[in-house]
Amino acid sequence: MKVILTGGAGFIGANLAYHWSDAYPEDELVVLDKLTYAGHRESLAPLEQAGKIRFVLGDIVDPDVVDTALRGAGLVLHLAAETHVDRSLADPAPFLTTNVLGTRTLLEGARKHDVGRFLLVSTDEVFGSLPLDHPELRFTLTSRYDPRSPYAASKAAADHLARAYHHTYGLPVLISNCGNNYGPFQHPEKLIPLAITRLLQGKKVPLYGDGANVRDWIHVEDHARALAAIARRGTPGQTYLVGADGERSNREVLARLLALLHREPESIEPVADRLGHDRRYAIDPSHLRESLGWKPEVSFDEGLARTVAWYQEHRSWWEPLVRPHNG
Ligand SMILES: NC(=O)c1ccc[n+]([C@@H]2O[C@H](COP(=O)([O-])OP(=O)(O)OC[C@H]3O[C@@H](n4cnc5c(N)ncnc54)[C@H](O)[C@@H]3O)[C@@H](O)[C@H]2O)c1
Repeated sequence: MKVILTGGAGFIGANLAYHWSDAYPEDELVVLDKLTYAGHRESLAPLEQAGKIRFVLGDIVDPDVVDTALRGAGLVLHLAAETHVDRSLADPAPFLTTNVLGTRTLLEGARKHDVGRFLLVSTDEVFGSLPLDHPELRFTLTSRYDPRSPYAASKAAADHLARAYHHTYGLPVLISNCGNNYGPFQHPEKLIPLAITRLLQGKKVPLYGDGANVRDWIHVEDHARALAAIARRGTPGQTYLVGADGERSNREVLARLLALLHREPESIEPVADRLGHDRRYAIDPSHLRESLGWKPEVSFDEGLARTVAWYQEHRSWWEPLVRPHNG
């Protein structure tokens, strides 16, 4: 089967490419990526050199690019997106272009070429923010959409569009909404790699506001396994919530990283809070576990230690990315 992986040079996409080519070597895996600042073709070099993937440089917004790529495809794994909330606060335009119009172009291409299955990879941020003082509340399949940042709004629009293509045209769409990922190949603008790379450079780590904001963390390999299960065995038209019971406050995450890297508490530097900063995300993953039998395999402590080790061993991957920004 020809499988199109959009955004495969990004963080989750690269990890999914490794997982997919290992688990399903009989598939023809094609990565379609524009290589924005967040895309790194070198992350895929071992796969390309081994002939396990084909890389296509292109923009998912461009109908001609998508038309050529999707011809003969049996499955689309759609991950390409603008993904950094802070960047969406500074300029929402590229988020609307790629996340909404790009998704529209792909859905049209999938319809035209009668693609067998289409997985849209989305986020729990479409459901808004939960209160800190009600730990029993979690996002479920019936949670209301309530996006609160331009990033989340653009992803919510893509979810709605994909669902509309299923209902209107019968396109076999699946949607997954996942919490915060961490692991290898994540751009150092995101919390965990930002903290690790700054600590490795002997710098302080900024912490937004009071640091009490809670995210539901999942190791990217567990997410990749979930995406494979959903793409191959999920029911078209169905949404799947992906989570690993990994709720941690930002302050807790940073404290764990300080311990792993033997740094003192003074290495954390509180900074003014992000505008409209969501307080808490938490996912109830029971439907995914019961319907497809998936469960996470990487504990937070083990995953974080492995992630720290990866950044220690791959300075040549991240050093060029931090020089212009984190000076
Ligand atoms: N990172 C997370 O914690 C998380 C959690 C839940 C869902 N998601 C979703 O998973 C997907 C992947 O996230 P990520 O963290 O790997 O993102 P990322 O920012 O690391 O990578 C995005 C990739 O998409 C590519 N891209 C961007 N615009 C493109 C365009 N117009 N055409 C083609 N390629 C383009 C980039 O070059 C890059 O390789 C996104 O859809 C995101 O919304 C991410």
